[in-house]
Amino acid sequence: MARFPNGFLWGAATAAHQVEGNNINSDLWVLEHIEPTLFAEPSLDACDHLRLFPEDIKLLAQLGFNTYRFSIEWARIEPERGHFSIAAMEHYRRVLAACHENGVTPMVTLYHFSSPRWFAAMGGWEKPESSDLFVRYCGRVSRHLGDLIQIAATFNEPNLPMQLRWLPISEIPIVKVKRMAKVAARAIGADRFGCFFLGDGDKLRDRMIAAHHKAFEIVKSGPGKYPVGVNISMQDEQPAGHDSKRDKKCAEVYDPWLAAADKSDFLGVQAYTRCRVGKRSDLTPEPGAETTQMGYEFWPEALEACLRYAHARVKVPIYVTENGVATDDDERRIEYIRRALDGMMNCINDGIDVRGYIHWSLLDNFEWIMGYRPKFGLVAVDRATQVRTVKPSAHYLGEIARHNALTNGAG
Ligand code: BGC
Repeated sequence: MARFPNGFLWGAATAAHQVEGNNINSDLWVLEHIEPTLFAEPSLDACDHLRLFPEDIKLLAQLGFNTYRFSIEWARIEPERGHFSIAAMEHYRRVLAACHENGVTPMVTLYHFSSPRWFAAMGGWEKPESSDLFVRYCGRVSRHLGDLIQIAATFNEPNLPMQLRWLPISEIPIVKVKRMAKVAARAIGADRFGCFFLGDGDKLRDRMIAAHHKAFEIVKSGPGKYPVGVNISMQDEQPAGHDSKRDKKCAEVYDPWLAAADKSDFLGVQAYTRCRVGKRSDLTPEPGAETTQMGYEFWPEALEACLRYAHARVKVPIYVTENGVATDDDERRIEYIRRALDGMMNCINDGIDVRGYIHWSLLDNFEWIMGYRPKFGLVAVDRATQVRTVKPSAHYLGEIARHNALTNGAG
């Protein structure tokens, strides 16, 4: 039986906007409800996790997991600029308390793609004051909740806008994006709609790296003593052809953020697939390759490659903060997990300091512009009744978590 290090964190993740429901003061809610929109459907009640979190956390613990990764929603905590909702902060205190009551380590993300709509109206991350506004929010949250938090990340995938830049030009509906951004700005009475997904990658990177370092300081100075890091979106980048720009892409998309993570307490690695990088941009998967509901390649080996890439550049401990697959075929999810964990185990055997594996996602949820169609959950959700149904993959991963080992039956 191949065992993982003692104290290894095993968990599943969610993000506020994707599961809570009715995140009406957020920028994304605006984008979901304008016409035209690129969103396949609006998030609406989502998984009603705002109300059902006690049952969801209990279920996660019963399945054998010891960690729950979730995000705190800035748009709820600060629905108007400078107005902080104590009621919203108290909600998250109850979520954190539910984790403790179930023997589950709460791993918090302070920002997972969504912002308050007033932040979008003032221009979002491209504006110089954005860093300080984010840091002020982090300070409030850590003062109110820090005594119950056990591990925290400032940002979820802040490098995503840079990664998206490498998409094949044919896959970006530029005209539609511009039209949506224009209509959204008009809807909130602003000149520009400053949303994370629509921002200028270079500006965002500098601003958000500055915000990360300042937020790190403020959170570390608050109550509670816990590691603070940042979770990066990674792909197994493979060169396609002798003139591939793979190294240029890695230097732009990953290295600045890996350097930032290295000045914090940990790096979160989030990996799903591999990518062939051509001479100008990413290429689509090879013809005949198995693809997931997201359109990208079924490639569980990506996790090992990303962990090795990260390890070569950071000295801090690494957590896998997201890994998973969008599929209706739960057998394929089990296969994906099995191969991804084998790769992670190879890394650990080679001395890479990996301290946890958090699966994306606990629940089938709102997959951003793709709506509810992609199924990433270990647990299915009937959105008409909000009934949860545990999938075999949840038991499979839960057993590994319970044994802290790749058991014979699993793995
Ligand atoms: C994000 C999640 C998302 C998942 C699957 C990550 O990019 O952090 O919010 O649902 O990947 O696409």
